Amino acid sequence: MTTIVPSITDALVGVYRKPPAEFVRGAGVELFDADGTSYLDFVAGIAVNALGYGDPQLTQVMRDATDSGLVHTSNLYRTSPGERLADGLVAKTFADRVFFSNSGAEANEGAFKMSRRWARSMGGAAKHEILALRGAFHGRLFGTLAATDRPSYRAPFRPLAGGISIVERDLEELDAALNPDTVAAVIVEPVQGEGGVRVLDAEFLRALRAMTRERGILLILDEIQCGYGRTGTFLACEQSGVEPDLLTVAKPMAGGLPMGAILATKAVSDAMQPGDHGTTFGGGPFVSSVAVHVLERLSDPALLAHVRTEGAWLGASLHALAGRAAKVRAVRGIGFMWGIDVVEPAKDIVARAMEQGLLICSAGEHTLRLLPPLVMTRTDLARGLAILEQVIG
Ligand SMILES: Cc1ncc(COP(=O)(O)O)c(C=O)c1O
Repeated sequence: MTTIVPSITDALVGVYRKPPAEFVRGAGVELFDADGTSYLDFVAGIAVNALGYGDPQLTQVMRDATDSGLVHTSNLYRTSPGERLADGLVAKTFADRVFFSNSGAEANEGAFKMSRRWARSMGGAAKHEILALRGAFHGRLFGTLAATDRPSYRAPFRPLAGGISIVERDLEELDAALNPDTVAAVIVEPVQGEGGVRVLDAEFLRALRAMTRERGILLILDEIQCGYGRTGTFLACEQSGVEPDLLTVAKPMAGGLPMGAILATKAVSDAMQPGDHGTTFGGGPFVSSVAVHVLERLSDPALLAHVRTEGAWLGASLHALAGRAAKVRAVRGIGFMWGIDVVEPAKDIVARAMEQGLLICSAGEHTLRLLPPLVMTRTDLARGLAILEQVIG
């Protein structure tokens, strides 16, 4: 079995335990280690590399984007790629305004600030609480950690940021918790990723939207993992018809470069005044040029149709696998985002899969998570499933 070592070098903070294989190259849907061994990638950099590796168009866009010499200018000055990207996101979604960040957690932190700014203008200082759901993962910065329901991530850093709490995924509990005088916003992943790949019911989302709207509470959707095509529509919320007040995206949006965004309605963004928020790097010309291209590719109807049909096939194949494998307890997911509850510790299966040339990851101690690049073909999906079945045993 693959040995997990803290790191080859002591120079990195030891927060990740990594297998010893060092990746030196990527092509299509495979990564290659220093020995030339190939690994079929069902992780995609944790839902980032939607276009796989070495995509010729993406590579060319990156080259072109450096030719101008304009990698960064700061947000003190205008550059067109970020403006074009914001226009594109507004054209393709419910949003009227966009704020760019450099990661998912940062986007959520910004969305929390926007919620509080808006709420203060509506109801005064008491209206500031942010609610997140049981099983949620919204990031590991201070505000987002308080909205992340993973005890082991939270415990070492108490006291966590105040005014943020976790509520059960239950409409009755939410009904009791959604006090319009004190609650500014609720944040929800339409498909919970790290929490075990849980697809929230469309009826649940619609009821929550109705409740929040009636009470003057904002609904923030976190589509950092499930957005940008992963569920077969550009945004996952299109499938329930729920329009949020704020929505965050990140992971795949700049082809592997670090970027996130807050999409907002005019009503919410109008509460933000000059100086209320900021970032040195967010929306810079290099990263935005790449993201303009990625936006076109990942909102392409043909790609989305591919994710829907092949994702349905993947789901049916996983359910069939579960029927054959005694050690599989449940299968959940949608599109190219699937979770498999297993009896064994997930990390042992992840390690065995890597030994066999397949990269998968986990979502909790007993859930395997599959997040293949959105361009993966059925042949490669089937190849991965065959290895998966073998290593689940
Ligand atoms: C749903 C969700 N929200 C937020 C984050 C945090 O994003 P980042 O790691 O870019 O800070 C993640 C990352 O896994 C995520 O899956």
